[in-house]
Amino acid sequence: MRKPLIAGNWKMNGSAELVEAFGRAFAEASLPAPVEVVILPPFPYLDAARQAFADTPVTLGAQTLNPLHSGARTGEVSGQMLREFGVDYVLAGHSERRQLYRESDEEVYDRVIAAFSVGIRPILCVGETLEERDAGHTEDVVLRQVGYVMARLDPEQRRRMTIAYEPVWAIGTGRTATPQQAQQVMAAIRRYQAGFDRELAGELRLLYGGSMNASNAKELLAQEDIDGGLIGGASLKVDDFIAICQSAG
Ligand code: 13P
Repeated sequence: MRKPLIAGNWKMNGSAELVEAFGRAFAEASLPAPVEVVILPPFPYLDAARQAFADTPVTLGAQTLNPLHSGARTGEVSGQMLREFGVDYVLAGHSERRQLYRESDEEVYDRVIAAFSVGIRPILCVGETLEERDAGHTEDVVLRQVGYVMARLDPEQRRRMTIAYEPVWAIGTGRTATPQQAQQVMAAIRRYQAGFDRELAGELRLLYGGSMNASNAKELLAQEDIDGGLIGGASLKVDDFIAICQSAG
């Protein structure tokens, strides 16, 4: 049985006030017990978020990490440091980092391994651009991104991996993949994983991301291979985000 996961990626957004507002709302809301809820705020808010969410079931994630534990890497934050803040999850390979910061599959893999080495669970993000989709390359692109990392992991690491399918053309555009489009790609990811281990494939947690909101979440989350969501814009709106969490229960 795969536990649903709803993760709010705040990207470079938010404020101390928003952290507080979420803390209050999570304390009052009845979040469905089987659903795991994670907020990924920018680094400066991690400590405040840890305190604000302390009496709630919500856990913390980070949006990236540097693969090194420490050293001369001005501006970077290591997995060890994040672990000290009680971070449970970290994103690796978000399309904004692949595109804007030129992160390669190899660098994404390095981050995944660095996360595992300090006991943080990576969420590997994959997805095709509109040009790649229009050219009929969606599954090739997505399975290459998945395969580069998964093929290099050991079975225990594969078991602890979460994969988020985020079509680039659906991120921040209001243009969500249809539930059928998302399901098709996510079923392909699970079939690919079955090539390593059939039992593990059944356990692999797959999230959809890309303009998921309070109105479309239920239908997306009802798809057989969609086990949760990675939410951007709607994770900055308290009521909408809680509604999405509730629709996963
Ligand atoms: P939006 O929900 O704003 O489209 O962002 C999705 C995303 O990139 C989450 O990581």
